[in-house]
Amino acid sequence: MTRTRLLINIDHIATLRNARKETFPDPVQAALLCELGGADGIVFHLREDRRHITDRDVRLLRKTVRSKLDFELSTAAEIVSICCEVGPELATLVPERREEVTTEGGLDVVASRKRLETVIPQLHDAGIPEVSLFVDPDPEQIRAAADLGADAIELHTGDFANSRGAERKQVLGRLAAGGALARELGLGLHAGHGLDYDNYDTFQDGMPHLDEVSIGFAIVARAVFVGLEQAVRDMAFLVKA
Ligand code: PXP
Repeated sequence: MTRTRLLINIDHIATLRNARKETFPDPVQAALLCELGGADGIVFHLREDRRHITDRDVRLLRKTVRSKLDFELSTAAEIVSICCEVGPELATLVPERREEVTTEGGLDVVASRKRLETVIPQLHDAGIPEVSLFVDPDPEQIRAAADLGADAIELHTGDFANSRGAERKQVLGRLAAGGALARELGLGLHAGHGLDYDNYDTFQDGMPHLDEVSIGFAIVARAVFVGLEQAVRDMAFLVKA
């Protein structure tokens, strides 16, 4: 069995930079350190309001990242067009609301079907080999992702991260069932949101056959104390165990 790949979301480095309207810390330098620490890929979300990652970051990341580049995006025409131009190895479609602090839930694939029927082929036609949809573990959403020609889904793990005890077991059961369905439908299986150094073991035990995870906040938060490369090594140790 192949091991789960660890992709690291560097948006939080850009958030820190932009909080002081500074040029540092630079997410492009951060991506390099993540790769040195053992990351299998780098994730960023170019939001419509550019609140963290900017167009300059995206272009430099494409030039410098040697591992897998995952471009998270909404279905807004301007951002889709930038993604097509940049040509990441993976495009992950996510919902986006201006007032949210971070992505708050999965994409409503069923309700967005019409737009996705255009956007998914547009990304493929631009040569992007893998298109993934960020979804909650809802069978209807997962089936719709497969119907629409997505290559993978990323299961939203925020509810898992926020739950405890018996509720956590239930949430993990739903994620595992969603993962099994995705596999049956021939979809790649990714997961992310709120995964951290404490909850990862429980998550991994309940979720076999994951292709990759996307983790950001926990790693950047730990980096403040131990440095980014070490924080990545600590997470890679858990993910690749
Ligand atoms: N996956 C998606 C689709 C996300 O929007 C985010 C948050 O930016 C993550 C994964 C990573 O979540 P976290 O920063 O909580 O690890």
